[in-house]
Amino acid sequence: MALKHFLDTQDFSKKELLDMIELSRMIKAADKQGCTPHLLEGASLAMIFEEPSTRTRVSFEVAMTELGGHALYLKPGEIHLGVRESLHDTAKVLSRMNDVIMARTLKHETITGLAQYADVPVINGLTDYNHPTQVVCDVMTMMEHLPAGKKLEDTHVTFIGDATNVLSSLMLICTKLGMHFTHAAPKKYQAPAEWVNWAQANCAESDGTLTITDDPVAAVKQADFIYTDLWWWVGQEDQIPERRAAFMPDYQVSLKLFNQAPAHAKFMHCLPASRGVEATDEVMDHPRSIIFDQSENRLHTEKGLLVYFVYPRMKHPSEALKAFHQGKVEAFLNQPQTGLVK
Ligand code: CP
Repeated sequence: MALKHFLDTQDFSKKELLDMIELSRMIKAADKQGCTPHLLEGASLAMIFEEPSTRTRVSFEVAMTELGGHALYLKPGEIHLGVRESLHDTAKVLSRMNDVIMARTLKHETITGLAQYADVPVINGLTDYNHPTQVVCDVMTMMEHLPAGKKLEDTHVTFIGDATNVLSSLMLICTKLGMHFTHAAPKKYQAPAEWVNWAQANCAESDGTLTITDDPVAAVKQADFIYTDLWWWVGQEDQIPERRAAFMPDYQVSLKLFNQAPAHAKFMHCLPASRGVEATDEVMDHPRSIIFDQSENRLHTEKGLLVYFVYPRMKHPSEALKAFHQGKVEAFLNQPQTGLVK
């Protein structure tokens, strides 16, 4: 199988993205019956993190274990990543010892550089531009929580808040899949023109729609799902007063704003959250909040993505071939002259 990386949902068709989700749903159904198939038996995942993580790190590591493989956690500062060794050399070495690489990098160029030189699939675990594994999970979660009989293509998703890397990926996957996407934020914090152009091009192909507004109340009126994310990230601490003043109180997902949405609307957040900032506790813990279903689905979708990208590239030797090689090594070890086995 040709080498494919998962760096951006824009690199994939609607059908390919839906196949990834369908695979994840099948593996989740098997897991719920206690029988996750060992599709990645003996495979190894190198996980590079330049930033901390709870969900991405744990979901990928558990996914590999449950699929019969293994994951290595390479924490921030642990390996030579473009500092004492070039990205080229790191990518080549990791490719010789692993079947797949997942990386969370500060700069998007770092992961594209890794992918350029890697000889195994590279999966994007978040960069300063996007978070594609998160949004595959999010769409699967939406499918599980759609009102009965509603099609994905008729679904309205509203993101309230800063134009984060999660916003970019969510806007792009929803418009690619033909959904109706709205982003509500103060003008200064709306998505850059380049992202909007890509999303509009998606809509032209998919019949989806894109609305950008600074009116949060109008934005939630038709929403099936209301999504938010942090208003500031590590490194933006000096902007906190300015950002808080821009977003609070109108863009906080409070019960007052949530109640402006249809009575079936569900609340989503990729987490981690700053409770009481971008969303109140009342909404985070509301009966129609699905934030922990979303988190759990990171595990099921990481399995689906790992299987999608890795399984077709693995060798699948017969039991006879495995027995032949084991027998050959054992025969060598058992020769009296080797002195290895007494
Ligand atoms: N949503 C998400 O990616 O969480 P982590 O930063 O904990 O991995």
